[in-house]
Amino acid sequence: MNFAHLSDTHVLDKRSQTNQLLELVDDGKKLAQTITAAVNHPQKPELLLITGDLVHEGTAEDYAYFKSILEDNCKGIPYVVCLGNHDRRQAFWEGFMGEKGVAKPYVETTMINGLRIIALDTSPVDGNEIGEMPQDQLDYLAEELKTAAPKGTIVILHHPPQGFVLKGFEGLCPVRDAFAGIVEGTDVKAVLSGHTHYLSCHSKNGVTYATAASTAFSMDNAKKGDLDFIDACSYNLGRITEDSVYVGTETVNYQYKTLFTMKAADMEKMLKNQK
Ligand SMILES: [Fe+2]
Ligand SMILES: [Fe+2]
Repeated sequence: MNFAHLSDTHVLDKRSQTNQLLELVDDGKKLAQTITAAVNHPQKPELLLITGDLVHEGTAEDYAYFKSILEDNCKGIPYVVCLGNHDRRQAFWEGFMGEKGVAKPYVETTMINGLRIIALDTSPVDGNEIGEMPQDQLDYLAEELKTAAPKGTIVILHHPPQGFVLKGFEGLCPVRDAFAGIVEGTDVKAVLSGHTHYLSCHSKNGVTYATAASTAFSMDNAKKGDLDFIDACSYNLGRITEDSVYVGTETVNYQYKTLFTMKAADMEKMLKNQK
């Protein structure tokens, strides 16, 4: 089965916020353009997965707007999402799910043509930069995986639990061992995540871990320890077969422009403050 993996869409309906990340937020054009590119790709994805930071600290209206972009551009292809640290749970439940007054983490299992997608929520508290996975989600995952799905399972979650290449990124999700112990030896073929705004792919004990860069902005730290936030837009295309997982990246309207630089020392300080 072919799928498209988008991440960190950081959409806002109106750019009304005044924080320093304003320039990085997508007003919806990049998301629409990316979905259009994916659904028209010759590889014909049958499924769209979006791994969190869907909306950038927005309202229920922003989630309704985000959903309308999916509905308008997916051309009937099913989509499954999970939430990230910049999502706001109550606004998501109201604007995306149509349930008012709910603020719980979003944890869900969806079956699509025999492929099982399990969405976990690694920011059970809004704004959790580092990410965590509460025991009840690990228990939920273990329970779901007791039975195999006809075409296997993909787990989607925002913070990558494996496969850190960049120095400093390994601290972004401290649930690696517990998580790996649950998914290894089951029908989980791939674990897809985002958050780093940087493509990575890693295989361990029969499980493929892939992180998609963002549709809104990407990271470049090739030159120095600091992180350049660049105006780039990409998504991953994947294929799952009985015995293999393929993941590749497609760039959309790429133009290299540094929007913002996060100093290495500031990043270290931010991660320390979250602990
Ligand atoms: Fe993000
Ligand atoms: Fe994130």
